[in-house]
Amino acid sequence: MEHTEVMKPESLDELIQILHKLFESDSINVEEVQAVMESYESKPHEWAAYAKFDKYRYTRNLVDEGNGKFNLIILCWGEGHGSSIHDHTNSHCFMKLLQGQLKETLFEWPEGKSHGEMVQKSQRILQENKVAYINDSIGLHRVENGSHTEGAVSLHLYSPPFQLCQAFDQRTGHKNTVQMTFWSKFGERTPFETTVSQENN
Ligand SMILES: [Fe+2]
Repeated sequence: MEHTEVMKPESLDELIQILHKLFESDSINVEEVQAVMESYESKPHEWAAYAKFDKYRYTRNLVDEGNGKFNLIILCWGEGHGSSIHDHTNSHCFMKLLQGQLKETLFEWPEGKSHGEMVQKSQRILQENKVAYINDSIGLHRVENGSHTEGAVSLHLYSPPFQLCQAFDQRTGHKNTVQMTFWSKFGERTPFETTVSQENN
């Protein structure tokens, strides 16, 4: 098996450059991407321009479009904010904690036509700088900032990028397609009209 040294990015910009290189290839190495993202040491002044909080729900802020190969997004979670249970539209999803902690709860896909309470597989607390990975074959998840005193900030990479995903009702397993929108792009607030629909992931 070929061994590649994991490059340690010294800044968020350098991390983005390395990710561009890794995603030039059509086959991506999940462990390698995870390791590179994990080795970036979060420095708030490098991402503060993208970290825009909303009082009522978490925000999604586009940082980089990855030459069309991936989207890099900063999510800002206010106290007690959480996502729905959702899928990832056949994409890879990497999630790195830049600040604070997030709780990730993993669920099984609802089975066939039988509807009922969704089955919880596991739960964990993600700590600062750690990177979680999920795709649809692993299952579905919900992400929450359980803290009532601290916000949390996470950096997400989705490849290929996607605009729609499915949100699930925990009690019935019923699903809805939801449009994913951006609170800001490249540090600029996006027009209000595009941010009204329900956001996920
Ligand atoms: Fe997600």
